[in-house]
Amino acid sequence: MKRIAALLLALALLLSCASAFAAKNEKKKAEDMNFEEIIDDDSATGTVNVYHWWTAGGEKYAIESVVEQFGELYSGIEAKSNAIPGGAGGAMVMKVKVLQQTGKSPEAFQAHPGQEIEPYLQSDLLLNLNEIWNYAELEDRALPGLVDMCTASDGNHYVVPIGIHKTNIILYNIHLFEQYGIEIPDHEDITWDEFWSICDQLQAKMPEGTYPLDLGDQKGWPACQVFENIMLGTDPQIYEDFINGNYNVDDVTRVLETYTRLMDYVAPDHNSRDWYHTTGAMVSGNCAMQIMGAWAQPLLTNMDQVYGKDFGVFTFPGTAGWFGMCVDGFVVSNDSADVESGVRWAFSVCTQDVQEYFSGLKESISPYTDTPDDVYNELTLHFKEQLTDENTKVYPSITHGTAMPWSASTSLQTQIQEYATSTNHDAAYYANRIVNILREAGVKGDWNLVD
Ligand code: GAL
Repeated sequence: MKRIAALLLALALLLSCASAFAAKNEKKKAEDMNFEEIIDDDSATGTVNVYHWWTAGGEKYAIESVVEQFGELYSGIEAKSNAIPGGAGGAMVMKVKVLQQTGKSPEAFQAHPGQEIEPYLQSDLLLNLNEIWNYAELEDRALPGLVDMCTASDGNHYVVPIGIHKTNIILYNIHLFEQYGIEIPDHEDITWDEFWSICDQLQAKMPEGTYPLDLGDQKGWPACQVFENIMLGTDPQIYEDFINGNYNVDDVTRVLETYTRLMDYVAPDHNSRDWYHTTGAMVSGNCAMQIMGAWAQPLLTNMDQVYGKDFGVFTFPGTAGWFGMCVDGFVVSNDSADVESGVRWAFSVCTQDVQEYFSGLKESISPYTDTPDDVYNELTLHFKEQLTDENTKVYPSITHGTAMPWSASTSLQTQIQEYATSTNHDAAYYANRIVNILREAGVKGDWNLVD
């Protein structure tokens, strides 16, 4: 018995030493590292723990393809893929925080460029990746507008982008429209009037227990994404002012009044599902439309749904000519156990091979001009053409990390989900609460979207 106790004590001591050691990972500085040598060293060994939130069908295969391609580039490094389900970053920030505090910073993790990464920067947790940008010539290769979006407040690059999605779309089940004799408009840029008319017709014809729309906002953020799209679709100036911190209760009330009208058509148990369950509900006919970003496409593909035959896409009403931009990328911790492998991972995501596999499977737009168009399917190519059209205006997402400080955006997600779930949808009451969130977070932006 005594021997067992002694053994257990020794084990506990060993573990505490190990965790003390883990807590002492050296913080690396980019200026002390030779990026070219690190990236070119294809015989390097090590481990890269990569955290991401791609768990839905399609997205999962896309990230697996990156792991595979990483193995082709660096066969001596083990890439471990760790998924934090739920999407849209909120859970990731918490997870990374805990890992960092326990000395187990992931070598690389998924992030959106912009405000989302500022808290990590303020705590000096990220490696400056300017040298990857130089080495891989990302400023020359990036799609227009992207360099600015991927430049942090201190003028440096910390994110290597991997893919871009459009956020302001509505996906719909073509078969339901046909079944209920609802005319599908011959243009994708539907107006608010057309949209309300479609909702009314569906509501009148769909059997009890099925609904024109669903939110799938169990995690909160899909409700917030609807809010930002309604705001842009109400008046882009209101959106610009809002993300710059020049908010006012009347404007937000106007936006929420439209949201209230929309809620008339939404399945009442909308927050009992995640966004990908709602995509499934749309395919099985429980709801006719889903307001979601274009990352729902690969999931639909994985459910054997074909664009133009089984599902179609509208531009979110009022947002024609605008492209809601969601940029995915990877950042590198400066205090992980294997910072060099983190650098190699971040480099790998912008290589042509990774871009071709990933963009094809994720059905996302490659951030780089040298990715050939033949990797895209019809719909993604269409989105890419919209994004690169010089007449298209781009707006950053609140929900997807870029437009607003993380603390404000997560509080907004909670508040808007609460609004959507409440029974009376009191627009003025919630507008006040929303404006308070911005006030407390001291939101102060410098976006110029409209002119
Ligand atoms: C977004 C991300 C997309 C998709 C979505 C849902 O934040 O940019 O690629 O993952 O969340 O999970």
